[in-house]
Amino acid sequence: MAKVKMTVNGRQVGSDCEDRTLLVHFLRENLALTGTHVGCDTTQCGACVVHMDGRSVKSCTILAAQAAGSTILTIEGLAANGELHPVQAAFKANHGLQCGFCTPGMVMTAVDMIRRHGANLDEATVRSELDGNICRCTGYHNIVKSILAAAAEMAGAQQAAE
Ligand code: FES
Ligand code: FES
Repeated sequence: MAKVKMTVNGRQVGSDCEDRTLLVHFLRENLALTGTHVGCDTTQCGACVVHMDGRSVKSCTILAAQAAGSTILTIEGLAANGELHPVQAAFKANHGLQCGFCTPGMVMTAVDMIRRHGANLDEATVRSELDGNICRCTGYHNIVKSILAAAAEMAGAQQAAE
C-alpha cells in the first residue's frame, strides 16, 4: 500500500492503493469517477480511455503508481462551465451513441485525435484511429460522423478566434 498522488480533472488528489492497482480502478474505486468504464480485460475495447499529460491512454493498461505525479483528464472533467465539450455536443447531435457504454472512451479518444489532426481529420483517419475502441451498438457510422462534425466545429471556432 502506498499513497499515490496526481492531478485529476484539475484537482490534486491522493489515495492509498496497492502497487498492482490499475489506473482505471484507482479512478473508479478510489476517486468515484465511474464515467471511465471497463469493458474488457485484454486492452482491446477502449472504454477506459482517459488523457494522461494530454495524450489518450487506456487506463486499464497503466498502473496507478505509473501515473503518480501526472495530470489526468477523465470524461467528468471535459465539460466546462456547464457546457458540453464540442465533441460531447457532436455525439449528442449526431446520435453517436446508443447504450453509451463505449462513449466516454470514444469521446476521450476523439478529443485527442482532433487535437493531433485538427481540420485535416478525414473519415479514413478517424476509422483507422478508432481501431482501439469497440462499440457493440452503433455500427460506428454515427460515431465517425460525430467526430468529423466536432473537428469541423472546433476548426471553425479556432479560425473565428484568430
Ligand atoms: S477496459 Fe481498457 S481497453 Fe477495455
Ligand atoms: S453505444 Fe453501446 S457500446 Fe457503443
